[in-house]
Order: sequence, then structure tokens, then C-alpha cells
Amino acid sequence: MKTAIITGASHGIGAAIAVELLHSDYRVYGIGRDFSEMTELLFTEVPEEKRGFFRPLPMDLCDTHSLITAVQNIRQKHKICLLVNNAGVGYFGPHEELNPAKIHEMVTINVEIPMLLCQLLLRDLKETQGQIIQISSVTAKKNNNTHGCAYGATKAALTSFSSSLWEEVRKYGVRITTIHPDMTASGFYRNANFKEAGEPDAHLLPKDVADTVHMLLTAREGMVFTDLTLTPQKHKIERK
Ligand SMILES: NC(=O)c1ccc[n+]([C@@H]2O[C@H](COP(=O)([O-])OP(=O)(O)OC[C@H]3O[C@@H](n4cnc5c(N)ncnc54)[C@H](OP(=O)(O)O)[C@@H]3O)[C@@H](O)[C@H]2O)c1
Repeated sequence: MKTAIITGASHGIGAAIAVELLHSDYRVYGIGRDFSEMTELLFTEVPEEKRGFFRPLPMDLCDTHSLITAVQNIRQKHKICLLVNNAGVGYFGPHEELNPAKIHEMVTINVEIPMLLCQLLLRDLKETQGQIIQISSVTAKKNNNTHGCAYGATKAALTSFSSSLWEEVRKYGVRITTIHPDMTASGFYRNANFKEAGEPDAHLLPKDVADTVHMLLTAREGMVFTDLTLTPQKHKIERK
């Protein structure tokens, strides 16, 4: 059985990816703080015999010391085949209205933690000819993220890091894919004064991203999707 680590497995896109990984017979170590949504999904979406292979790791990713210890403990038991850097946080609004704590949190969760986990796990991933999937954002590709300047910059940093790392490790058989989702119906915009539009063709679903992960896991070895953008048919947002 292959072993995966996924950050932000407790809600939204990460929970949907964790469910997909369980269906694909992975043992899944999922990091998050509040697993109530994932617990419900486990009971409704995952066959009973596979539920035990979800191992929740409740922790705040800002506590890098606990994260490093937890990852080293997992590495003593299993070789990691898949790392999904999914956890993310976004604060939106005029840049002068952000505060230092919010900027620090976005940089830590969206950029520092993926870099740290890649560094900790690359040796295993080289040995297992494994895979890294980074959940970035369409904002990484835009230069006009008004009212999301800092968030967009963190995602651009993640995308840049990932494409450079891919060039560094491709000769070792490690695959790296960066997914750039557009607006997805999750709790992500809880801090914003807007949210995804309600029409089904104006937003993505967490399962759309999870289905993309399934495609990546089943792709022919030797062929790599380095960069994928997912977007709904229509571009629309709703003011709250
Ligand atoms: N939704 C969108 O429109 C959209 C579009 C493009 C890209 N993305 C990206 O997709 C990824 C997933 O977002 P989502 O839409 O699924 O949002 P979400 O529902 O808010 O989920 C975010 C996940 O990250 C975890 N997380 C955040 N801060 C954490 C911390 N300090 N410690 C531990 N876990 C933490 C959350 O865990 P807890 O809730 O348990 O703390 C949660 O599981 C993010 O990287 C986001 O930037 C989202």
C-alpha cells in the first residue's frame, strides 16, 4: 500500500482529495485542525474497510516544530510516495487593511510549509519515484490580483518554486504537478466580502480538483503534467 501526506485534509479541496486517495488505496496522513467535515465525508463517501487508512494529524501548520516531528515519525514507519501541499489561507481586501499576523500566516501556510515538506520528503520521494502535487491558484498566473495582492504573490511563489524544483528533481524520477484552480465552492472565502457565484457553471467543486488528482495518479509513468489550470465555464463572483 502506498502512503501519502496531504495538508489541509480536513476541509474543502483537501478533504475531497483525501477521499480520492483512499479510493485509490493509499494510506493517507491528513493534516488539519478541525476534522469534523472530513469525519462526515469518511462515513458518507468512503467504504468502511478503507476508513481506517485515513490517519488524521490534528495540528496547526504554523507550529513547524510539531510538523517536523510528526513527519519524521511517519517516515520511520512508511516511505512516502505522494505529498499533496493543499493547505492554504487567503485574506482579501485593500492591502493596507491587512495586518502583520495575516501576512505572516499566508506566507507561512501557502509558501513556507510546502517548501519545508518538499525538503523533508524529497529523499523518500526519490526512492519511491514518487509524486508531489501542489495546490496553487489561478491568481499565481495573474498580475492584477487587486484586493488579493499578498495572497496572489504567495501562490505565484509556490508555482515558481514548484517549477524550479521539478527541473531539479525530474532526473530522479520524481513527478511534480502544480494545479491552479479558479474559484471553488469551499469555505475558502470565509474572510472575504465576496464568494463564488452559485450557478453550477460559475464555480468549481472540490471534487473537480480531486478528479484531476485521480488523473495524475493514473497517468502513464514517463509522462508528466507539470502545470494544470482548472476553471469554470463562466467567470462570475457574488458579493456577500
Ligand atoms: N476555494 C477556492 O476558490 C480556491 C481557488 C484556488 C486555490 N485554492 C487553494 O486550494 C487550497 C485548499 O483550499 P480550500 O478551497 O479547500 O479552502 P478551505 O476549505 O478553507 O480549506 C483549507 C484547508 O487548509 C487547512 N489549513 C489552513 N490553515 C491551516 C493551519 N494553520 N494549520 C493546519 N491546517 C490549515 C484547513 O484546515 P482547518 O480548517 O482544519 O484548520 C483546511 O483543511 C488552498 O491552498 C487554496 O489557496 C482555493
